[in-house]
Amino acid sequence: MFLTQVKILPRLLRRKHTFDSTPLFGKASFSRLVLGIETSCDDTGAAVLDETGAILGESLHSQKEVHLRSGGIIPTVAQQLHRENIERVVQEALERSCVTPGQLSAVATTVKPGLALSLAIGLEFSQRFVRQHNKPFIPIHHMEAHALTARMLQPVSFPFLVLLVSGGHSLLAVARGVDDFLLLGHTLDIAPGDALDKVARRLSLIKHPQCSTLSGGQAIELLAKDGDRTLFPFKTPMGQTYDCCFSFAGLHNQITLTIKKKEAEEGVEQGTLLRCVNDIAAATQHTVASHLAKRTHRAILFCKTNNLLPSNNPSLVLSGGVASNQYIRKVLTSITETTGLQLFCPPPKYCTDNGVMIAWNGVERLREGKGILPPHVDVRYEPKAPLGVDITAEVKAAAIKLPSVRMKIPTDG
Ligand code: KG4
Ligand code: ZN
Repeated sequence: MFLTQVKILPRLLRRKHTFDSTPLFGKASFSRLVLGIETSCDDTGAAVLDETGAILGESLHSQKEVHLRSGGIIPTVAQQLHRENIERVVQEALERSCVTPGQLSAVATTVKPGLALSLAIGLEFSQRFVRQHNKPFIPIHHMEAHALTARMLQPVSFPFLVLLVSGGHSLLAVARGVDDFLLLGHTLDIAPGDALDKVARRLSLIKHPQCSTLSGGQAIELLAKDGDRTLFPFKTPMGQTYDCCFSFAGLHNQITLTIKKKEAEEGVEQGTLLRCVNDIAAATQHTVASHLAKRTHRAILFCKTNNLLPSNNPSLVLSGGVASNQYIRKVLTSITETTGLQLFCPPPKYCTDNGVMIAWNGVERLREGKGILPPHVDVRYEPKAPLGVDITAEVKAAAIKLPSVRMKIPTDG
């Protein structure tokens, strides 16, 4: 089941807030407001949410086009762009919400994991802000925020299984509570979004008239619609490893070798758009989807064997930038339908990085009184930070073999 924009439209109505704005430090009250700030990678985002999850106002500055032109994210450039935009983005989110800093109950900011230089800007700004306005501070784990976003839009209750796939991460976890995760699998090398971005760059998709402003993943999804995936039967990674970890580096190599071969066959230099670009895109997308689906299937079986999910209405949440991909969503639907889980995906806008998901994570923590700090506590950013308790070794030891599943393959790719 896909969450639709329609369901959140009423929440986007602006409201004027006139209530006591005394810092609450986690005590229960109605209509508390949280400002969320995101700068962990290449998006400067801010949003104000109320305690029900209503989005009062948001603002996002994406650096995507700058990094597309330079062929990847250069951390110093990302930092400079965050520095130039953060004040305006936060100001815009507050103005659009008709909320003053004094009316906020807390400020939630991504402090881990992510690019050090990017995290530093959001954290420095936030610590100055909370001290100036005497507000509680809620440090946020970026992947926890991706995992919880679905709960802002739909009543997804704990525990649920979550697959998070983005430019920097690939992980499967059981979310048992706001700050309670069991890590079933993670990537051993690069993330699926990184692999898609690298393939898109190697194919020079920025030169394609339809793709010049799209991220690698978006470009591959678009071109795959007119491609024949069967022309390039790439091998799904880790077929003989019966755990829930991921690997995309080998697949990236396979695809690069194929591209080199096709360039030689077509007699063109690297940097020229290949005639078979749609077919390579379709095969790449399919193999990524298939790898994600297989590891997720095994994670579901592991959870069932170990009673980690409720027997009534178990759920899978799919989020992170790569989860915007409709083909990947469809393939995962085959797995959830076969295993009796309900699939929840936030709309693409909230799968990629944004301030709303950070504010929502702040709301969830505020409601439970978890991880709320007074303004003067010094907080450090952490570029590397695993999510939850790592039980990947137990998953591997279980060595669950998968039954075959008829994948739902969308006809346009
Ligand atoms: O979550 P996100 O905005 O940032 C990170 O935390 O990494 O994810 C960005 C990643 C990029 O690698 C981008 O190519 C990928 O998400 N992406 C997609 C799609 N839209 C964005 N991948 C596949 N299909 C898409 N439609
Ligand atoms: Zn992300």
